[in-house]
Amino acid sequence: MEASGALGQAMEVPAEGRSPKSDAAASATSDAQTLFTPILEELAEFEGRLEAAVAADLGPMAEAMRHIVRAGGKRIRPALVILASRMGDPSMDHVYDLAMGIEFIHTATLVHDDLIDRSPTRRGMTTLHETMGAAPAIIIGDYYFAKGANLTSAIGMPEIDSAISNTVMTICMGELLQMTSKDDYHQSLEDYHRKIARKTATLLATCCYCGGVVGGLDPDRRDALQRYGHKLGMAFQIADDLLDYVATEEELGKPVGADLRQGTVTLPFMLAFQDPVVGPELARVLERRPRGDPDYEQVVSLVRRSGAVAATEKAAQEFARDARGELAVFPLSPARTTLEAACDYVVGRRI
Ligand code: IPE
Ligand code: IPE
Ligand code: MG
Ligand code: MG
Repeated sequence: MEASGALGQAMEVPAEGRSPKSDAAASATSDAQTLFTPILEELAEFEGRLEAAVAADLGPMAEAMRHIVRAGGKRIRPALVILASRMGDPSMDHVYDLAMGIEFIHTATLVHDDLIDRSPTRRGMTTLHETMGAAPAIIIGDYYFAKGANLTSAIGMPEIDSAISNTVMTICMGELLQMTSKDDYHQSLEDYHRKIARKTATLLATCCYCGGVVGGLDPDRRDALQRYGHKLGMAFQIADDLLDYVATEEELGKPVGADLRQGTVTLPFMLAFQDPVVGPELARVLERRPRGDPDYEQVVSLVRRSGAVAATEKAAQEFARDARGELAVFPLSPARTTLEAACDYVVGRRI
């Protein structure tokens, strides 16, 4: 990856110090590229426009953002916007503005989330708050929330403006719920579902819904796309939460069990905690709190040995299957087939 300017040199992780996620991130990106083969041309056009939109900002702002944007990411949200819009007949300028606006908003949530979670790396790069400090990371995140909204408002469709602003409010609520339920090992499945719906699924739902709006679809079909995106997003986050327990440290680029170390209680842990045999053992390991740190390696190994892994996988697969079902109202097309394949991708990915 090219790194330009003083900030670029400061930000890029030296090869020997690189997070293992940089290799894993590259392989996830290539898996996603295979999935999105039918829209590779549109995604390439999107990348060009995204890069130009970043470069249009004043020097320090552009410089700060260029690296995280160039580091890639799977581009699931822009792909969903493009594919959902294909269910109708969109203006491609509108599609690109929407896809860019949403990707900027997603990136802004990551900049703030990494600050909140004190994460040192993202997409194989040192995080902004690590290189520049917390205050610039807050300002840059805010700027990109607004830049995203500015791009989507240029489309001139009030349904989109309202969906986007609502989505940002919902994501903030999800992040806040996650904070207020920190280390709460007894939270209910409803609490968990509410949290992941807000922090993750809502943005994927909005990609699909707004894609339908720019595609000129009738309200029933927009709603079907929204439900598809919501269910896909739930499957995506549950799979993400499972990976935190079952993937290797090399794949994750961080220690396994990082969620619980940060106080984030997720489905694999919750299901293991409810298990009549493993649950009491987990409770004993965690009892060390608040006197000392629990043995998280043991927590991970107990969760892995329980039936929670298979049950979590099943939960993700059920959401993915229901997501696929929402597409039945659309005529068969390469875009629909790709949206269907995305259901398998989100539950099968390794990072
Ligand atoms: C990361 O999203 C945040 C979550 C909702 C888990 P992605 O996994 O889509 O991140 P990038 O854009 O590919 O880096
Ligand atoms: C990602 O959340 C940010 C949002 C969904 C807003 P997490 O903290 O759960 O995910 P990672 O592990 O940092 O990507
Ligand atoms: Mg995080
Ligand atoms: Mg977080």
